[in-house]
Amino acid sequence: MSESTNGSSVLLRLEGVNTFYGQMHILQDTNLSVAEGELVCLLGGNASGKSTTLKTVLGIVRPRSGTVTFADEDITSRSTSYRIRKGMAIVPENRRLFGPMTVLENLQMGAYLHGGGEPEDYERVYSLFPLVYERRSQLAGTLSGGEQQMVAMGRALMARPKLMLMDEPSMGLAPILVERSFEIIQQVHQAGVAMLIVEQNANVSLSIADRGYVLSTGRIVLEGKAAELIQNEDLRKAYLGR
Ligand SMILES: Nc1ncnc2c1ncn2[C@@H]1O[C@H](COP(=O)(O)OP(=O)(O)OP(=O)(O)O)[C@@H](O)[C@H]1O
Ligand SMILES: [Mg+2]
Repeated sequence: MSESTNGSSVLLRLEGVNTFYGQMHILQDTNLSVAEGELVCLLGGNASGKSTTLKTVLGIVRPRSGTVTFADEDITSRSTSYRIRKGMAIVPENRRLFGPMTVLENLQMGAYLHGGGEPEDYERVYSLFPLVYERRSQLAGTLSGGEQQMVAMGRALMARPKLMLMDEPSMGLAPILVERSFEIIQQVHQAGVAMLIVEQNANVSLSIADRGYVLSTGRIVLEGKAAELIQNEDLRKAYLGR
């Protein structure tokens, strides 16, 4: 596997990616990578192209030029289901649980859609999130926002992903739940799963990330170690509100 700047293997790499919706040029010459086990956050304002980046990684939209490499394989022209089989998992915006199903059934669906589902997969989710075990018989639609977040992550983990993709995990959560939610993300990261997280909440996400990228109208305008980005004056002015 190729080396990243911090010496570990590169898991995901976008190189020279240009993504369009019809005539609209959204991602412009995007270069981005995630190393194995790394937590990377992608920051940017509304309509800057964050979700489009995740969609490009997942193959929901295909770039007009450039390459997407995952685990040393060029997957640019591969389907979304192929990418999921190869180890990508998504926790979508607003979590999108199956509301009329129980928590356990949601986990089963995660396994059904993406593979996995052995007893040890449930064990892993329950040991990370004991609350998910306690709530396993409750209808997912009746859970609080923070609980739903845990179930959505648990559902994604059922497939034993190499890379977990999350679109705005803090959206719609009260400040206290935002913090809890990022603790959960950190736990999953510490369990060895690489993560690419899209966020508008730069403060919280940079505080747990290894590295970050900042998108502005489809271009990466800033990148670096999270600890350095958090000190960056331009970023502080634009996203940290001071
Ligand atoms: N399916 C689509 N067809 C046409 N235009 C689209 C489509 N999806 C997104 N866009 C446009 O592409 C641009 C980038 O959208 P994207 O969803 O990637 O932004 P974002 O950074 O995730 O924004 P937000 O923070 O609001 O979620 C926006 O101008 C949006 O209107
Ligand atoms: Mg978005």
